[in-house]
Amino acid sequence: MPETLHLAATSDGIAKAAYLLRAGGLVAMPTETVYGLAADACDDRAVARIYAAKNRPSFNPLIVHLPDMAQVARFALVPPGAEALAAAFWPGPLTMVLPLREECGLSPLVTAGLTTVAIRLPAHPVARALLRAFGGPVAAPSANPSGRVSPTRAAHVLAGLSGRIEAVLDGGACAVGVESTIIAMDGPAALLRPGGVSVEAIEAVLGAQLALPGDPATPKAPGQLASHYAPEAGVRLNAETKQPGEVLVGFGTVKGDLTLSDSGDLLEAAANLFHLLREADALAGPGGAIAFAPVPETGLGRAINDRLRRAAAPRS
Ligand code: TXA
Ligand code: MG
Repeated sequence: MPETLHLAATSDGIAKAAYLLRAGGLVAMPTETVYGLAADACDDRAVARIYAAKNRPSFNPLIVHLPDMAQVARFALVPPGAEALAAAFWPGPLTMVLPLREECGLSPLVTAGLTTVAIRLPAHPVARALLRAFGGPVAAPSANPSGRVSPTRAAHVLAGLSGRIEAVLDGGACAVGVESTIIAMDGPAALLRPGGVSVEAIEAVLGAQLALPGDPATPKAPGQLASHYAPEAGVRLNAETKQPGEVLVGFGTVKGDLTLSDSGDLLEAAANLFHLLREADALAGPGGAIAFAPVPETGLGRAINDRLRRAAAPRS
């Protein structure tokens, strides 16, 4: 494959990216959460290439990205609770797992053969412009090799996937910095993955509590592997001080070599998380270790701690 193109997010760059998608290509696109590896969700061959480029297990389904609410009903059934969440949080960092509409034209590889489909309307203006220019559903997992740290800048995408994808559309650094919250809405509302919209905000809209991961009522998301977001270095959590040879990443009153947020701001910490994980990994060097200060388990802290626990989990 020719070298991966690095496209500026101009109208020319977006038109070129849409052309590449129509031709069955893979294009990394900026979203407000992380960069996504986009392909035509109706093209079996293009979707198969996503799995190959990421080395992703094919039982792990993909999120379908759409530009507006009018398109959602083409692919999914939308129960009343999902309507309410869509009105509150779309476009934005929320993904809903909904009953799949049969014969809707999506490649069965997108849903990994399930009877549900995960849908998100991203808020990033470049993602929305690309989705409108392409005109159809776009499958997009995070644009990183499977199991590694998710990308929040075009340079992160190129570090992991250069030469394996047609292009990256450069929209700068992602503002939210952690992936979307995934809620199952094909039955009782259940949290499958904490993310950019807080559980508290979702429960306020639903007027009910979400079933949480681990509850008997919560289905298991196929892709939630214990080890994920793995840097090269080892990771230790809830560190108040650093041990010899460690790079300490601070938060609030715990001052480190690097900091998620000096002021203890969870929005800032989420936006910095994946970039700092990469920087700390480079500083730690071969065989090194990274220690993370404690982060409170509220609001976006739930998503940050979820990613950190997976980064620290034993690697298979
Ligand atoms: O913020 C995000 O969600 C980013 C951007 C690019 O949109 N995308 C992202 O995709 O994080 P990915 O593939 O890294 O994570 C998607 C998750 C996986 O854990 C997958 O198993 C789950 O969504 N998923 C997809 N379809 C599903 C379904 N029908 N039922 C349950 N889980 C599903
Ligand atoms: Mg991912």
